[in-house]
Amino acid sequence: MAQPIAFFDSGVGGLPYLEAARRLLPGRRFIYLADRAGFPYGTKTPQAVQALAVQAVLALATRFQPVAIVVACNTATEVAIDAMRAALPTVPIVGTVPAIKPAAAFSSVKRIAVVATQRAAEEPYLLRLAEQWAADCQLTRLGDGALVDFIERRLFTASPEERLAAVRPAVEKTLAAGADVLVLGCTHFLHMAADFLAAVPAGRHLRLVDSRQGVAQQVARVVERATAETGSGADAGSGASAEPDLMFLTGPEPFEARYEDFARRFGLEPAGSLY
Ligand code: DGL
Repeated sequence: MAQPIAFFDSGVGGLPYLEAARRLLPGRRFIYLADRAGFPYGTKTPQAVQALAVQAVLALATRFQPVAIVVACNTATEVAIDAMRAALPTVPIVGTVPAIKPAAAFSSVKRIAVVATQRAAEEPYLLRLAEQWAADCQLTRLGDGALVDFIERRLFTASPEERLAAVRPAVEKTLAAGADVLVLGCTHFLHMAADFLAAVPAGRHLRLVDSRQGVAQQVARVVERATAETGSGADAGSGASAEPDLMFLTGPEPFEARYEDFARRFGLEPAGSLY
């Protein structure tokens, strides 16, 4: 059986990342894990997030022998990438961090904002990224756990007005800080990119930046390298994978309808609980 590429997040945030990677690697099989039982990561201590992230990568490795694991979560990457790699040295692990570097390049006023989970917004990792790539910019960090929750639970049932109201606080704070670029530093927020733009008042300008393309390209490089080294796991090049791409949850059944909805919209089959 072909070795899949495994993605995980605390919830549905990693799905746009999987979608971008699948476009670059159409012959590959994909597995997605939403750590429903651990959700949300953004309000937990770094130690708690580390424990959940390590548990997730070990479970994915044991069950699927993936060619690579993608941590499609900024919070888990910022606080736990080293712990995950130490716990699982045999599988390449690709992380996701806020796209500070392109944001700094795009900003003409040299003021950028990042909207993320509370945890990810406060982490020293983010400050180090900013020092490295955006030293010439003023950075505004916004934690918005309410928006994460909204996306996880209500994305497809909320009205357009409710969606706008959900993103408005972040947009208003960004514009009040004088920033012209907003980094979507939580993977969940990619689901609402159009709403962020719709919430920008007429006459104001705001550019959104996210990391999905960069992460997808990194996944493609890592998978290519791993496949060349081991010679295993590829049906890439031989057309689409015969086996379906699957979405798993953690925690007790049932697989709620809202997760089924997400799975189908992203071309995945709901596959129950992994642990
Ligand atoms: N999607 C996640 C991120 O990119 C975390 C959401 C959460 O569980 O708080 O940080």
